[in-house]
Amino acid sequence: MYRYRESCRACGSKELVPVLNLGVQPLANEFVLPSEPHSGYAPLEVMFCPRCTLGQLSVVVDPAILYSEYRYVTSQSEMMFRHFEKITADIQRESGKDSSLVEIGSNDGTFLVYALHHGFGPVCGVDPAANLAQLALQYGINTVVRQFGTPAAALVAEFMPKVDVVLARHVFCHIDDWRGIICGLDVLSHKDTLVCIEVPDTEKMLANVEFDTIYHEHLSYLTVRSVIELLNGTNWHVHKVLRYSIHGGALMIMLRRNEWKERDSSVDAFEIGTLVTEEKWKAMALTAVVARYSLQKMVADLHAEGKTICGYGASAKSTVWVNACGFRKDDIAFITDTTPQKIGRFTPGTKIPIVDEAELLVRKPDYAVMFAWNYFQFIMQKNKAFLDGGGKFIVPVPTAKIVEHA
Ligand code: TMP
Ligand code: ZN
Repeated sequence: MYRYRESCRACGSKELVPVLNLGVQPLANEFVLPSEPHSGYAPLEVMFCPRCTLGQLSVVVDPAILYSEYRYVTSQSEMMFRHFEKITADIQRESGKDSSLVEIGSNDGTFLVYALHHGFGPVCGVDPAANLAQLALQYGINTVVRQFGTPAAALVAEFMPKVDVVLARHVFCHIDDWRGIICGLDVLSHKDTLVCIEVPDTEKMLANVEFDTIYHEHLSYLTVRSVIELLNGTNWHVHKVLRYSIHGGALMIMLRRNEWKERDSSVDAFEIGTLVTEEKWKAMALTAVVARYSLQKMVADLHAEGKTICGYGASAKSTVWVNACGFRKDDIAFITDTTPQKIGRFTPGTKIPIVDEAELLVRKPDYAVMFAWNYFQFIMQKNKAFLDGGGKFIVPVPTAKIVEHA
């Protein structure tokens, strides 16, 4: 089911240091039906590379298991579309309008549909999840169903020989073979091709103690420095870096081929240094223990008072919290979610059922743990009826806190 990785994915160093251990966990997005078996458990441990500052999991779970029936679908929230607007403007500032676009990890095609309507074209997706490619096709988006690398790039090149923009949103952290990605980019690029890699901002993740974003699909916790190391000796370099506030902080790392001589000054600061250090990782690991303890204690205390508690948002983060805290159905009675593909299934590693969000007002629990805390404002506004009826949210990060009013 998994294998250990011995060397750094970015720079090849074998001197990796263990910095955070979440024990053995089920696969965070494997929401199985009551009748289905699950794939099992794998260690969840982060190793830090002092040479290039990349954080990476000690194991790589077989992608065929992780991605064959992938249930994560790109959020269609207003917040996500505002983000699309922003990244589209930033990319077009570099590439111009009417650029052809390939998205690596295109999921159900949500971004590509948006891109087609906002000045990109033609577009094409690459994603290993056949079920999502099927969905994308219904929206009119073609997807090459493969992990991105030279073979996938060759398939794209059959109908889009050279591509103006290659976008990889939150996908670099999912892929083990980064050299393969670079080789694929070589196949698809012309001298002015822009490559845009959006990744979570590890510095912010550490500062905000977002340990719940660490699960088996997220193999890497990138820094710009680690990408600079990765690109050493290739045809590519880091051209520009932008920061976004979405989901606790993201970086857009833009690459250009080495023929492109101008480099944006935004890269300079990252080259000088990074705030992502071994000490920061270890400090976060300790704080995460306190955060888990604070939620466990709050749930136990509320139960002792006879209160009922559910979860809100069956995100992968919810799986990490639930399993790291050892919660069972007696602790969290159910978790609500809006995603049809998740409803009727169990939270991985438990018998906690996922139910339709409408159940919140039917079952009226006293408390709902907000596992989709990254949508805090939106969720508070959307659930006025629950709050007005006396319901309360528990926000688990950075330490458990009860929120009663929008
Ligand atoms: P994400 O943080 O990975 O996007 O996952 C969020 C999960 O929470 C996803 O399964 C959808 C769910 N969700 C709700 O159930 N209700 C909501 O209002 C929002 C914003 C998300
Ligand atoms: Zn390294």
